[in-house]
Amino acid sequence: MRTIVSVVDGKRVEGGTEYVSRNPARLDDVVAGVRLAEPAVFRQAAESGRRAQREWANVPAPVRGRAIAALGRLVEANAETLARLVTREIGKPLAEARGEVQEIVDTCDFFLGEGRRLYGQTVPSEMPDKQLFTFRVPVGVAAVITAGNFPVAVPAWYLVPALLCGNAVVWKPAEYASASALALAELAWRAGLPHGVLNVVVADGQSTFDGLQEALQAGVIDKVGFTGSSAVGTRVGELCGRHLQSPCLELGGKNPMVITPEADLDLAVEGALFSGFGTAGQRCTSLGTVLVHESVHDEFVRRFDAAVRAATVGDPTGDVLYGPMLDQKFADSYETVLGWVAGHHTVLGSSGTGRIGAGNPRPGFAGDPDAGLYYHPVVLDGVRPDDRVFTEETFGPIVGICTYRDLDEAIDLANTPGYGLSSAIYTTDPASAFRFRQGVGAGMVSVNNSTSGAEAHLPFGGNGRSGNGSRQSGIWVLDQFTRWQAMNWDFSGRLQKAQMDVATIEPELDYRLSTED
Ligand code: UN1
Repeated sequence: MRTIVSVVDGKRVEGGTEYVSRNPARLDDVVAGVRLAEPAVFRQAAESGRRAQREWANVPAPVRGRAIAALGRLVEANAETLARLVTREIGKPLAEARGEVQEIVDTCDFFLGEGRRLYGQTVPSEMPDKQLFTFRVPVGVAAVITAGNFPVAVPAWYLVPALLCGNAVVWKPAEYASASALALAELAWRAGLPHGVLNVVVADGQSTFDGLQEALQAGVIDKVGFTGSSAVGTRVGELCGRHLQSPCLELGGKNPMVITPEADLDLAVEGALFSGFGTAGQRCTSLGTVLVHESVHDEFVRRFDAAVRAATVGDPTGDVLYGPMLDQKFADSYETVLGWVAGHHTVLGSSGTGRIGAGNPRPGFAGDPDAGLYYHPVVLDGVRPDDRVFTEETFGPIVGICTYRDLDEAIDLANTPGYGLSSAIYTTDPASAFRFRQGVGAGMVSVNNSTSGAEAHLPFGGNGRSGNGSRQSGIWVLDQFTRWQAMNWDFSGRLQKAQMDVATIEPELDYRLSTED
């Protein structure tokens, strides 16, 4: 069996607590043994980054871009192996895993060109013989802590721009996705990225937090990127704030989908099916609650229930809507969510609720349900705004349904949980689409499309409980991994004092046009 360990400055860090990464679709299939590091390893990794970063920043950005180009090509050449590893380790259907790998390639394609831009500005001065400039400067060492539901694509959203901009990285992947993480890191090193600028620490949550605290205290971390729950993100934000740092936080979501009276209902059903149950509802962009106009409620529920019942759940290597939960801890927390189902709800979507197995079967299940962590899909009608299932992220295959009377009410309901990552509206009325966009607090809005499935070159991120307003992807993430430096250069040969030695123009402000002509 492979044993995965942290890699600091290209060297394996042996020892640490034993952990086993299992295939959640077949729990007897051990993907890798993992050694979880002590907090001190996190700090050592940051120090390794600190030593390597300056030299890396001195490599011309277009040359750094070539390393990112090589990473993209290597990921492409290894796409099928990487996608199969992702499916085996975290159980997302192979088609989704292939899409996830493609998202890394897309990210590399975008940022290899950024190596030839990373534009600064030339700015006029208020004085003669003086020129102003701006430069993007790398932040230094970035700690990147990621979840395992997108074990390679979401990390790439951080790693690729951070490295392109001339930073060093300490990457702490989710322990239950360690094998996928190390596979991506290996491709990055093989692409020519120096070992010291990409260090990987495998550790549990508490050791990571302690290690991060130690490294921030020691001044060897300059930026934190965190993707995970709102609860942990809040703690990371507090810790960073104490060190005057603003982290990049990509947190949970309770993503609403509004269906207006004039919506194409079949399209909406298809969108809700993928949004709600893709990755077994374990995307941060997964659909939380459908807000359907009362006039089309019954028809939508009928069609949605039928579509969910007809969908194939099962072995993620096959053609299924979704596979197992990512890991045992997600199955456990989803069991808690199922406890929020109350008497006033109508449970639809499957032949049962809870874990699928021989004693609780689902018709059409693909494979052996007892082998893995499979759960029945749940469509929950009659959800009310004060239900826990309405206000909290559920991270599992469950979608709530709630009705509304007018669009303002729908917008209020969409904003009620206080998250603000993604949202969707199905409508054929342009005014409703624009009014919804204007009113919803989410960072991302889909019109006639799923809440999930963001493209790699648009700003990705949320507000409220979903994040602190930071954005990943595209040109927007550059502001996370660089800082603006302003330079002024006076070539007049004398001291020209800003605001004081400035030439003035005397306008005749009391001049008025004649009204007689
Ligand atoms: C996440 O769930 O953490 O938009 C990221 C999507 C994917 C990324 C999701 N491209 O669903």
